[in-house]
Amino acid sequence: MSHFFFYLLAVAFTAGCCPCAADVGDFTPCLLFFYRSWPPKGLTGTPICQRYHNQYRFATLYSRYRRSPWFSAYLYEVPEGKRPSASWKFEPQLAYPGADGNMVSFPPGPLDQNVVESQAVELDYINSTYSRGHLNPSLHHQTHECRSSTFTLTNVVPQKAGSNDGPWEILEQTVNKTLAAYCLTEAYVVTGIIPYASAEPWLRNHRVAVPEYMWSAYCCPNYNHSLPEELKQKFPTFAAIGRNDPNSTEEIVPIDKTAKKQFRGYDVRPMPLEMLEMYLKDRFNTVVSVFYEQCTGSG
Ligand SMILES: *[C@@H]1O[C@H](CO)[C@@H](O)[C@H](O)[C@H]1NC(C)=O
Ligand SMILES: *[C@@H]1O[C@H](CO)[C@@H](O)[C@H](O)[C@H]1NC(C)=O
Ligand SMILES: *[C@@H]1O[C@H](CO)[C@@H](O)[C@H](O)[C@H]1NC(C)=O
Ligand SMILES: *[C@@H]1O[C@H](CO)[C@@H](O)[C@H](O)[C@H]1NC(C)=O
Repeated sequence: MSHFFFYLLAVAFTAGCCPCAADVGDFTPCLLFFYRSWPPKGLTGTPICQRYHNQYRFATLYSRYRRSPWFSAYLYEVPEGKRPSASWKFEPQLAYPGADGNMVSFPPGPLDQNVVESQAVELDYINSTYSRGHLNPSLHHQTHECRSSTFTLTNVVPQKAGSNDGPWEILEQTVNKTLAAYCLTEAYVVTGIIPYASAEPWLRNHRVAVPEYMWSAYCCPNYNHSLPEELKQKFPTFAAIGRNDPNSTEEIVPIDKTAKKQFRGYDVRPMPLEMLEMYLKDRFNTVVSVFYEQCTGSG
C-alpha cells in the first residue's frame, strides 16, 4: 500500500505533474516561499505556484478579473550574471485546469482563445504606454532558470517606464545590496500592488488593470547584527511603496520635485512594515498581514 503510494508520487513527479492536479488555486505545494509557510492574509485571488522546467520557482496571488497579480512572493538569492533575454511566458493551467502547471513561452503564431481570455498576453502591453513591471524581479535570482521563470505575464503589472527604469529599479538594487550584505540565511520577499481607489486605468478595452502603486516588503529573520547605523531600522523587516502615476495625490508617497524629469512623480517611499500594512488596510478596507507576526516571530 505505502509502496504503491510512493510509486504514484514518483511517477507524478517524474512525469512533471503535481499530484494535486494543477498548480493553481492552492499555495500548498509552494509554501516554502513564504515566511513560516504563511501566505499574506487579507487579499483574495487565485494562488499560482509558479512552475518552470518542473520546479517551483515562486508564488503569485493572481487576479483573474484584473488579469494581473496582487502579489508575488519569493526567496531572494544573491544574483550572478546578467538579466537573461528570456522569452515571455503564460500559464496554460489558468485556461485548462488539467494542464501540468508549467509556464510556457508564447508561441509565434495565433494564441488559443481560452488562454487569451484567462490572462494577459503580449498584445495587451505592446503599444500601450506601460512597460511590463516584474513583481518578482529577475535581478533577485541566481540561476539562469530562476531568472527566466520571472518572465511570465502573471508576475507582471502595467508599470510606467519612469518607475520601472527609475526609483523602483533603484529600490530593487538597494534591497539586493542590503540583503546580500547582511541577511545570513533566507530572505522572504513579497511584492504587490495597490489598486486605484476609483476610476482605474486599464490596458486594451478593460483587459488588464493598471495599479496606482507598487509595494514591496522583505523579512530576513536571521541577520548580521553588526549593522551600520543607516540599516538598523531595516532588519529584520522593511517595506516601501512606489508611485506608478505622477498624478496621484501625495498623501501616501510625496513627490521629489527636484528629481530628473523622466523619473519625476515616480518616487519610492521606504517605510516600516507596519506603515505599509496601514496603507494596505486603508485601500483594501480590510486588515492585510504580509508576514507571520510581522516577521518578529522568534526563531
Ligand atoms: C504598434 O504601433 C505601430 C505604430 O503605430 C504599428 O505599426 C504596429 O502595427 C502596432 N503593433 C500592434 C501589435 O498593434
Ligand atoms: C546585487 O548584489 C550583488 C552582491 O552584493 C552584487 O554583486 C551585484 O552587483 C548586485 N546587482 C545589482 C544589479 O545591483
Ligand atoms: C557581520 O558584519 C560585520 C561588519 O560588516 C562583518 O565584519 C562580519 O564578518 C559579519 N558577520 C557575518 C557572520 O557575516
Ligand atoms: C496626468 O493628468 C494630465 C492632466 O489631466 C494628463 O494629461 C496626463 O495624461 C496624466 N498623466 C498620466 C501619467 O496619467
